[in-house]
Amino acid sequence: MNISQTSLGQPIVPSYELAQLLEPVQTELELVEEWLRSNLVDNSPFISELLNQVFKAGGKRIRPALCLLSAKATHSGTGDISRLQIILAVLTELIHTASLVHDDVIDGSTTRRGQETINRKWNDKLAVLIGDLLFAQASVCLSRLMNPEVVGIFGQVIGDLCAGEIRQMRQQFIATLELDSYIQKSIWKTASLFAGGCHSAPILNHCSQTVIGSLKEYGLALGICFQIVDDLLDITGDANQLGKPAGRDLAHGIVTAPALFVLQQKSSASQKLHELIQTRAVCTSDGIAEALNIVRQNGGVEATISLARQYADKAHKSLSILPPSNYKDSLDNLVEWLFARTN
Ligand code: IPE
Ligand code: IPE
Ligand code: MG
Ligand code: MG
Repeated sequence: MNISQTSLGQPIVPSYELAQLLEPVQTELELVEEWLRSNLVDNSPFISELLNQVFKAGGKRIRPALCLLSAKATHSGTGDISRLQIILAVLTELIHTASLVHDDVIDGSTTRRGQETINRKWNDKLAVLIGDLLFAQASVCLSRLMNPEVVGIFGQVIGDLCAGEIRQMRQQFIATLELDSYIQKSIWKTASLFAGGCHSAPILNHCSQTVIGSLKEYGLALGICFQIVDDLLDITGDANQLGKPAGRDLAHGIVTAPALFVLQQKSSASQKLHELIQTRAVCTSDGIAEALNIVRQNGGVEATISLARQYADKAHKSLSILPPSNYKDSLDNLVEWLFARTN
């Protein structure tokens, strides 16, 4: 897989190690890319070009990779996995990308995957419609799977994505957020799609309920861990590494794990952070710099790393049911690759 850089320095695949972990499904991932390149055509050349640009901008392709690894790790035959598994992998990337295009409108983001967002380059209305178009493409793929259980799973996933964004919107500038509520939001926004992909693959392979359930647990735990790490990077990362500006969540009044842990302390630092959020001072450049310092200097980062560790451990445990294979190893090692991003 190509590991070239985009203009902001964000790698299309973030590290050589990830490319190595995905090696066992390299051939299938290329089929996914091929599908995204050749099937997303529209009667309007303008729309075709836009869709093309969205996917050319890269992205880690974690969700399709998880589907393909789950499919291969639970495939009992000796032959190739079915074509349906490729379509499943494609549809998770379509849903993910649609949600990002919409998310950038909600967050007012200007860069994504190292490129200008559609809302920035064009406008919000067009971005909403392009997101819808991608959801529509995903439903066409879903229908081709001809499996009502999987259709139901992804119907729920798309609903969860919306519920997560709505929950987050309603909690903006609220400094008294509970950890449970933060985890639930992370499940809706992120882990639901991970889990949907991970357990739909063994459903299409006609696996036992135990295997299906274990992969669902794996996807859920990995997805929660993934969102926690993404939230952490927003506090600790820099714009070059992220492909988007740092501190943006807090500057928008979105309280994630690192700030939440500091807010739960009974200290003057915690009180100051409350004040910066509630008065919306975090929206100013001085305010966000002060808030980020408070979070970094009062254990917010360390507490978040140990929360991510708990979910990483859960993800590892849920794989124990799978027979040994290099696909299982990749699923296992992906957890540690993700966790290593906290460093
Ligand atoms: C970003 O997901 C959105 C979150 C769920 C945190 P990814 O980090 O997988 O985004 P791409 O696809 O690699 O750009
Ligand atoms: C990502 O949410 C979008 C969804 C999971 C629907 P975020 O707002 O946390 O992700 P970034 O930081 O924009 O990538
Ligand atoms: Mg966002
Ligand atoms: Mg968002």
